[in-house]
Amino acid sequence: MALLVLGATGGTGSKVVALALAEGHEVVALVRNPAKLPSHERLTALQGSLTDPHAIDNAMSCKKKIAAVINVAGRRPYDKDPSPLMPVVLERVLEAMRKHGVKRYVHQLGAATRVEGHADAPWMSIIKPILTWLPLGADLALAENDKVATMIKDITDVDWICTRPAFIRDGEPGMVLRGVDPPTLATITFEALARWSLDAAFDPESPTDDGRNLCGP
Ligand SMILES: NC(=O)c1ccc[n+]([C@@H]2O[C@H](COP(=O)([O-])OP(=O)(O)OC[C@H]3O[C@@H](n4cnc5c(N)ncnc54)[C@H](OP(=O)(O)O)[C@@H]3O)[C@@H](O)[C@H]2O)c1
Repeated sequence: MALLVLGATGGTGSKVVALALAEGHEVVALVRNPAKLPSHERLTALQGSLTDPHAIDNAMSCKKKIAAVINVAGRRPYDKDPSPLMPVVLERVLEAMRKHGVKRYVHQLGAATRVEGHADAPWMSIIKPILTWLPLGADLALAENDKVATMIKDITDVDWICTRPAFIRDGEPGMVLRGVDPPTLATITFEALARWSLDAAFDPESPTDDGRNLCGP
């Protein structure tokens, strides 16, 4: 059984891939540029964009049987293409998961994401307008994460788990506080998120609160 990683060339995704391979898992990665991935006998690199309507279904139809999907993709800074990305990706992922009988879905949002049923972080009213004002395209990414969070809450037929990290940095895994709500501004490492994501994908005993809670570091 393999893990499908979306965003495998990103900060979190590259650590997820490395850790999954180190732990003996089969990994399928759908990426725009396979040259950014390491070459490994247990890594199947599929070239494609998440904007391609068939790419995600094709990735789940590849020779490997997919056990779980980790979606750590996201708009790159300065991506100002107004076409919806992550909400559409979520729809396609769910459609393909249902079709291929894949049950476990792990998704990485951000601490500034507004999530129904969870208090907004107190600092959000200051940080969010600044992020939105900067010419980074963050306004689109933030709005999409809010929309995705709303969509995820409505999923009942797929076993999903989200996390809401604040600032992610390089470094040793370090401590992870689970279920922090509202999220704090504490940093977390890409390594720690990779560990958390893999546990969430493969270990049904992994402490994920009620399994549906969003948690931040
Ligand atoms: N970094 C942070 O400090 C931080 C903090 C809080 C929350 N988050 C959230 O965590 C998630 C992951 O963040 P990250 O920093 O680990 O990611 P990242 O380094 O920004 O990487 C984004 C990934 O998504 C991929 N991607 C973007 N558009 C794509 C497309 N059209 N087709 C295929 N792949 C596409 C990128 O591929 P390419 O390599 O081809 O560009 C890359 O692999 C995002 O949702 C982000 O909002 C990040």
